[in-house]
Parts: sequence; C-alpha cells; structure tokens
Amino acid sequence: MSQADPAPIPRPLRGRRVTLGVSGSISAYKSVEAARRLEDAGAIVDVALTPAAARFIPPLTFRSLVQGEVAVDLWDPSAPAEQHVAMGRRADAMLVAPASATTIANLAQGIGDNPVTLTALATDAPLVVAPAMDSVMYGQPSVQANLELLKARGAFIAGPATGRLASGGSGLGRLIEPVELAAAARSAIGRTVGVLRGRHIIVTAGGTREPIDPVRYVGNHSSGKMGVAVAEAARDQGAAVTLVTTQPPPAGSYGIVVRPVGTALEMQEAIRNAARGADALVMAAAVADYRPAETAESKLKKQDAETGGMTLELVENPDVIASIDAPHLLKVGFAAETDDLIANARAKIEKKGLAFIVANDVSQSDAGFQVDTNRVVLLDESGEPERLPLLHKYDVGVAILERLKSHPGWPQRTS
Ligand code: CTP
Repeated sequence: MSQADPAPIPRPLRGRRVTLGVSGSISAYKSVEAARRLEDAGAIVDVALTPAAARFIPPLTFRSLVQGEVAVDLWDPSAPAEQHVAMGRRADAMLVAPASATTIANLAQGIGDNPVTLTALATDAPLVVAPAMDSVMYGQPSVQANLELLKARGAFIAGPATGRLASGGSGLGRLIEPVELAAAARSAIGRTVGVLRGRHIIVTAGGTREPIDPVRYVGNHSSGKMGVAVAEAARDQGAAVTLVTTQPPPAGSYGIVVRPVGTALEMQEAIRNAARGADALVMAAAVADYRPAETAESKLKKQDAETGGMTLELVENPDVIASIDAPHLLKVGFAAETDDLIANARAKIEKKGLAFIVANDVSQSDAGFQVDTNRVVLLDESGEPERLPLLHKYDVGVAILERLKSHPGWPQRTS
C-alpha cells in the first residue's frame, strides 16, 4: 500500500453496538479477543459478566479494552441505575460467549438473576449464543432441548466446535474462535436489519486447479481474498451467501455457506446447484481457461534425458460465468488485465452476459492477487467507468453490492 494513498480500514460494524455476555468457562479468554475484534470492526461493545465469568476474567480486562460499559454486579451502587435495561435497549446484537450450560438454561427459561441473563431479557436485539462446555454436558438432552428452544425463538446458535476441551481429551463443546464469534454477531445483525435480507448471492473465489496427475495441477496465483471479501460484505448485509471456493474455508466465514471445489468443471456444477432462486453471481474466481486433456491416475515420472521433457496437451474449459443461465440472476465478472484495462474488460461484458464487470490492473503491486487491497474500475456496457480509489477488498465488495442493488435488473422484492 502506498503511503500517500492508504486504503481506509473497513468498519463493517460502524454505528453498531454489541452487548457481549460472558458466562463462566475457561474459554472466556476468547471473549476478550472477540470484544477487541468487534470494536476493531467499528462496534461499541458493552460487556455483561456473570459472577462466575468475573472469576475467570477480571472485569478490568474488559474495562481497559472496550468503549462501552462493563456490568458485573447487579447490586453495585456505583453502577448506572437499570444498567441492564440500557445495555439491552441500545444493543444491535447480544452475543453470549461463552454460554455455559447453566446460562443456556437460564436464557431458555427467562431467568434473569445476573447481568448476562438480565440484559438478555431486556433486549429485543438478535441473540447469538455460543455454547462452551464438556462434550458430555453438551450432549445432555436438557442442554440440547434448551438450545432448540432458543433456536425456535430466533436465537442464533454459534458452534460449538470440536477440539481440545478443558475437561481433558477432545470432543464437541469447544467455544468457536474469536474471529467466528465476531462474524456471528455481524451475521446476526445482517440477518435482522441488513439491506440484503432475503437475498441469495453466490460468490466464487480462488484459482481453479486442473489436475495433471495426483500431485500436480495447472493453476494460478489467485488467493481467493477478493471473493471472500465480497462474501463477507454480502453476509454482513443479511444475504444468504454461497461461497464456491478452491481455498480452505476462510476464517470468519460464520454465516456463509462454503462449497469447496477444485476444478472449473466442479465450480460450474456447484454454481448450477446453488443458482436456483439466487439473485446474483459474483465471479471473483480465477478460472483456468484450459485443463489437461487427460489426468494421469498415478504420478507421472520424469522423462529420461533423451526424450527431452514432456508435452502437456490442454483442452478448453467452459466459460463458467457465461454458461450459467438462471432467471433473475445478475452476473458480475472480474477482469484481471495487464494491458488495455478498460477496452479488454468492456469486451467481456457482452460476451459473458454480465450486468457489469470489475476490472483491475494486476500489474500494480498494491492491487490484485495476494494482497488485501484492490484498485478497481466498475464498468458496464455503455456508462462512464466508475474508478474506485485504493480500497480494502471488503470495501470493494461493498461497492460491488451497492452497484448490484442499484442495477435496473436487480429483482425488486418486498421483504
Ligand atoms: N471466467 C469464467 N470461466 C472461464 C474464464 C473466466 O467464468 N473459463 C470468468 C472469470 O471468473 C471472470 C471473468 O470470466 O469473472 C473474466 O475472466 P478473465 O480471465 O479476465 O477472462 P477470459 O474470458 O479468460 O479472457 P482472457 O483470459 O483472454 O483475458
């Protein structure tokens, strides 16, 4: 990123308030980082602790970290009066993480005898519950029934994950990671008030890998970052998002349906499967134009010196985005070019049936492959190119979604 033209840090939660409810579990240390991540994303975080949580994490830790208030003791005469009511009212989401079995039971039964459960009773905001406990505890019918009850009432249940447990061994019951906790709060806010509620957006990411043999492939340098950023931005605005990607599921993808694929043909198939009823396809993936004519079943051995190397025969892949034809689906393509950016990108709009195209010059070092920023031009068939400044890819995603929403072909719905 150049010093003169730094991209602003994305703040997807700017103007939002999140109340973080922390209950008693050794995993409460993760809620400290979740609070930090939520504030980094632009939110103001209030924190409520159960008495047990306050024994694991000194309230001073949160007081030093968050801009909001920290509620610890319902009877503290120095705390603002009716603090739980104020914290509940101003919340755009309440995230209970970690949620112990007891706190889950209290939430399900409407018992408000500590700052966490009382604040949960005092809020209309979406409730995200992130369970954390031993796997036998988690499997108890009582715990499951309480979670079902909360889910039926509209709560978002985030996790738990499988992994190492404080009780020893490994199993289902681990609190999800801070990045996922913050993502769960973002997703819940989007699903509740986001402008893309009720919409379905398919996003592709990463470079396809066309196998030569079991260990080698024809591929490219795409990191998948641009597609992931579009998917996150759409998730944050409340859309149902299917991310078709050649990369491992990205950290912080809570609320995004991830469909892993390898080749262009697999990507085409995954998009077709998701396309019915979808509103838009944002094709950020770098699809290999050619694939090996044949894939060897076992590893190819090096040719001996006398035969002088090897020739790989390639056949053309389908143009994936051009081949997808679903009613009401608006298609957005990307054009990564090194020369004649505008002319080359514009030529692809009609050829591929696109609503618009996102063109970027991949010869710049602060834009394009592998980096977190991008400098793109949004182009449709006839209008003036919209040149965006250097932006974080998340904010490029936001700009793409804005353009989609104002496109004449964007299906109008009352949601
Ligand atoms: N694309 C696709 N299927 C392909 C090739 C590209 O769906 N077989 C999509 C890309 O995901 C991107 C857009 O088409 O959204 C443009 O990709 P690009 O590689 O720039 O265009 P190509 O059609 O491959 O043209 P060229 O490589 O000659 O520039």
